[in-house]
Amino acid sequence: MSTDRPLYVPPEGPPQGINPHPAIYALMGEDQIYHMLEDFYLELEKSSIRHLFPADMREASKRSAAFFVFILGGPPLYQQQIGPPRMRQRHLPFAIDEAARQVWLDCFKHILQDADKKYHFPLEHLPGFWRFLDQFSAWMVNTK
Ligand code: HEM
Repeated sequence: MSTDRPLYVPPEGPPQGINPHPAIYALMGEDQIYHMLEDFYLELEKSSIRHLFPADMREASKRSAAFFVFILGGPPLYQQQIGPPRMRQRHLPFAIDEAARQVWLDCFKHILQDADKKYHFPLEHLPGFWRFLDQFSAWMVNTK
């Protein structure tokens, strides 16, 4: 993928061995993961990085949810519906700098409040999920 801006490559490279615990999917199920991602995209819609995202946030949330189902231990919905994840490559068209990443993480932090009550998220696995979001999002940064 070529872009018209200089690309930044995080020196630490792609994170390894950070997948969240697969029990998360087993305990939440597909519907609650879609619900969580829908709320996340509503939060992004109100944020200062809204311009990065497409007009239809509900559709966008479904693409992300398909990926999160897989990453949280469920079936490979994203691969079946869209194709190989190649997440860093798929994010290259969007100028994601460290400030944008922080806004993105803040939106996630916000919706994860009371995640047990809202989405049946198993709280004992929240720290591991947060570590995944923190480290994987660092690998999505492509702009200085
Ligand atoms: C844990 C880190 C992240 C994960 C797992 C993730 C996951 C995804 C997925 C699965 C998609 C859908 C790709 C597709 O259209 O097929 C997506 C799209 C997108 N993401 Fe991320 N992302 C992450 C971090 C970020 C960050 C930090 C930003 C910006 C600050 C960002 C901005 C976007 C944008 C602009 C799109 C395009 C929306 C669309 O067309 O659907 N992402 N992301």
